[in-house]
Formats: sequence, C-alpha cells, structure tokens
Amino acid sequence: MDKDRKLIFSGIQPTGTFTLGNYIGAVRNWKPLQEEYNCVYCVVDMHAITVRQDPIKLRQNTMNAYALLMACGVDPQKSILFIQSHVRTHAELSWILSCNTQFGELSRMTQFKDKSQRHADDVNAGLFTYPVLMAADILAYNADLVPVGIDQKQHLELARNVAQRFNQRYGEFFTLPEPYIPDVGAKVMSLQEPTKKMSKSDENPNACILILDDKDTIIRKFKRAVTDSESEVCYREGKDGINNLMSIYSTITGKDFDSITSEFAGKGYGDFKLAVGEAVADHLEPIRTEFARLSKDKAYLRECYTDGAEKALKYSQRIVSKVYRKVGFVDKT
Ligand code: TYM
Repeated sequence: MDKDRKLIFSGIQPTGTFTLGNYIGAVRNWKPLQEEYNCVYCVVDMHAITVRQDPIKLRQNTMNAYALLMACGVDPQKSILFIQSHVRTHAELSWILSCNTQFGELSRMTQFKDKSQRHADDVNAGLFTYPVLMAADILAYNADLVPVGIDQKQHLELARNVAQRFNQRYGEFFTLPEPYIPDVGAKVMSLQEPTKKMSKSDENPNACILILDDKDTIIRKFKRAVTDSESEVCYREGKDGINNLMSIYSTITGKDFDSITSEFAGKGYGDFKLAVGEAVADHLEPIRTEFARLSKDKAYLRECYTDGAEKALKYSQRIVSKVYRKVGFVDKT
C-alpha cells in the first residue's frame, strides 16, 4: 500500500455471473483505478445470504466471481482482492455500527423495500441491516472512494451518515467515503423494459446480458431489445430503449453521443442494435477466454484469495481495534 495514495473500496455479490450492468456501472472501472489508488476489492458472500442461497451454488458462485474479477483486470498483485467471509473484521465492525444506526434510517432504504416485497416469505434481519454491513466493509478500511452504480448511492449515503454519527459520539475517526459513479452507464437498463434497471433476477432472460454470454446470444438479445416507433438514433427524453443502447455503446467504444448519432444517420435501428451487440460481444470475448483459463487453476485462485484475506485482515484489524478502544471495550492484551 502506497501511503500517498487514496483508498478505494468496492464489492460485488456472488449471485451468478455478472451482468453487463455490473460490468459497465462498476467493475469495468476497477481495473484502471488500480493505477492511481490503493484498491481493496471484495466478493461479498456474507451479503448474498440475506436472500436464500443453495450452499453448493454459493460456494461455486463465490469462486467464479473471484476469478471473473481477475478476468476483468483486477490484479491481486496490485490490489487487495478477497472474499468477505474470510475477514472477520467486517462482521465485527458491523455490530458496532449497527448500534449507531437508527431503525428509521434503515426502513427508508429503497432496496430493502424492493427486496422485502420480492422475498415476502423471508424478510430476515440481515436483509434489513444489510446496509450496515456494507458501511462496515467500507469503513473498516477508511476508504476515500467507492466505485458503484447509481443503485448503491443511497447505501453509501447511509454509510456516510453512520460514520459522521460515530465521529460525533466518539471523536473524529472515520473518513467520510465519497461515491465514485460514472457519468454514463451508472444505471444500465433492462433490454426488455428500459425503464427498469438491468438485473440478473429478471425473469425474462432477454432483458439481461451476462458477461459470459457467447457472441450469438449477445447479438440475439440486442436484436430483440425494445426501442420505440421512431427511427433516429439520438439521445432524447422518452427514448429510453435507444438511450440505454447509446449509453452501452458509448461506454464500450468510447464514442460520445453526437458521434454515435452521426455514425448511424440514415441507418435504421436494426443496424444500430447489431453494431451494439457486436461491440459488446467483441469487448467481452477476452474476459470470457481469461475466465475459462483462470477458473481451471483452482490452486492459483486459492493462493490469491488466501493472500488477499491476510492483507485485508491486517489492514482492517488496525482500524477496527481502534474502534474497539473508542467505544470502551477492554484491551485483550
Ligand atoms: P451488486 O452485487 O448488486 O452490484 C455490484 C455493482 O454493480 C452495480 N450495478 C449496476 N450498475 C449499473 N447498472 C446496473 N444495471 C447495475 N446493476 C448493478 C452496483 O451498483 C454495484 O456497484 N451492496 C452491493 C455490494 C457491496 C458493496 C460494498 C459495494 C457490498 N459491500 C461496499 C461497494 C462497497 C451490491 O449488492 O452490489
């Protein structure tokens, strides 16, 4: 860790392959950030069990998510890359922060409201206190910046509020983490209902691109994307489907909206959808190849996540033991 660099923390749930939304909104940025910041990245398996998981699948998905982050360019030599349940400080700090979080503020979390409706038979306490664990993830490292998609903004605001409250009660200690949200692509929308966020829990498989989908599947899904009854490729209010495709195309190719509009002037939506599909498939191809290679090498993955957990514990332990002192726990030694 370079003392002169700011610290980045981010996490992703291991609930199946990442979506194009996860990739564009968050993970894509994790690689370049490694060059300028101290980065700590985490597969948050403890968050995942707030909804029912098959234990065998969770273990597999966690390993896959770890390998997939590496395939997306997270380098365990440059960053601390680990699995959340391997590092006990997250749960320890979460308890202390939960005693500094109000029932009322957790009740206002829109993701809790959505998920408790979707999983009405299992509105467990973990689902409710989920944002406190997320605050602990971030604050255990005193992170400066948190790269996420827009759907995590409210959770991040809660983390800031909890940190601020702790600082008022016990004296300045936690850094208030700032969100790092991309200008374009912070909310990739469903290809079938472009007013809804793209999500892996969508029942319609055509709504969502998975980053391990093969080229034909990706192109087929884009061809079926819902658009509008006009024919001009331009970014304008009310053209949710086209706006979404333009944002995806722009983040993948680096072209701005004006140049995309000129590129497709006089052409139809069919040509545009095909071009987006091809650009996305070609962009994801090396990730798929690298994932296939890495996921065969279990011993290497184990080495990486064991080392990552050791480093993460060492770093966060220093911070969490200071928190223990601050709240008045007796020193063990
Ligand atoms: P998760 O696993 O749902 O999503 C991982 C990241 O992907 C982003 N994302 C999207 N971005 C754009 N468009 C979309 N359609 C889209 N869908 C998902 C999310 O914003 C997120 O950045 N609670 C977090 C995981 C977490 C975390 C943390 C993140 C746990 N602790 C600490 C940052 C810091 C979550 O469930 O993300």
